[in-house]
Amino acid sequence: MQTSNVSLPIYLIEDDTTQECKSLISSLPKETGWVVSSLYNYQGFWHPSRQLQGVLSCQKHFEAQESDILLVTTPKSGTTWLKAIVFSLINRTRFSQTINHHPLLSNNPHILVPFLELKLYVDNENPDLSCLTSPRLFSTHLPFVSLPNSVLDSHCKVVYMCRDPKDTFVSLWAFANKLRLKEMGTNSLEEVLDKFCRGVSLYGPFWDHVLGYWNESLINPEKVFFLKYEEMKEQPEFHLKKLADFLGCSFSSKEIEENAVEGILNICSFDNLSNLKVNKEGKLPSGENSSAFFRKGEVGDWKNHLTAEMAKRVDNICDEKFDGSGLKF
Ligand code: A3P
Repeated sequence: MQTSNVSLPIYLIEDDTTQECKSLISSLPKETGWVVSSLYNYQGFWHPSRQLQGVLSCQKHFEAQESDILLVTTPKSGTTWLKAIVFSLINRTRFSQTINHHPLLSNNPHILVPFLELKLYVDNENPDLSCLTSPRLFSTHLPFVSLPNSVLDSHCKVVYMCRDPKDTFVSLWAFANKLRLKEMGTNSLEEVLDKFCRGVSLYGPFWDHVLGYWNESLINPEKVFFLKYEEMKEQPEFHLKKLADFLGCSFSSKEIEENAVEGILNICSFDNLSNLKVNKEGKLPSGENSSAFFRKGEVGDWKNHLTAEMAKRVDNICDEKFDGSGLKF
């Protein structure tokens, strides 16, 4: 596998963090990162230093509004897809899926739905978000315990998507290798699997991240909608309708007759998005190639990369961590 980057995304650049962030970091547990040299454990989860700065600012300053929608994922669980889907869903009366100037045709989904801690708050301690039209749509990889208080105190909605840990891991391994600078070489699968299993991955431990939102979705189903990538792949129409109901924008019978559900799924499909010029050749302002977010988009690709023994190792951790929770992959 080739590394392709000549520079790191902004949220991974390690020097140049604030004094507040530097002094916090000096007290935190530290491990070697997948892309940059160090990850720090803050509130039980692992972050690179610059990202942590974004987390702190967003925790301090983000004021959720009642009508906000927050998309939360573990990295490589289908964030790009979820952003495209929810953006199209809530804007479906503004932009018909059949028109040739739908924003998704000329913008990567990450432009249309910005990350809080990786984009809006990473370099700006308190960005002015008041000019955004309602409902505001944001995304984050923050674990439940690290969400800004205002998210929990308001009636804003949280949509969580996760994915089979073996596919998430393979996708993360491939993505991290794409982000690494040429001179860093690539991470071997074995090396990073070991870290992943010890919980040391971006926003890991994976299991704790998923369980945080799973448990909250059971306690507070009006607040947190829990979705798996595999479920969305298997029954996309069913889950898109459920998502619309959850967000208070159910499809009317006229819309169903006119194939509005299918229209959204088509424009957001892997085949459609990954073949658009903007996603094949474009770059995000944060520095990543847009194409890095579209690899295979399949369920079960882990079988092409993990040995039976590696898969068993991940499965055993899942069995142990999810025992009694009702959650299965
Ligand atoms: P693979 O690496 O397994 O192909 P994220 O968006 O959270 O970074 O996750 C990226 C993963 O979602 C990648 O998985 C990518 O190919 C897949 N993906 C991107 N767009 C998708 C889409 N429209 N439909 C389904 N999967 C998609």
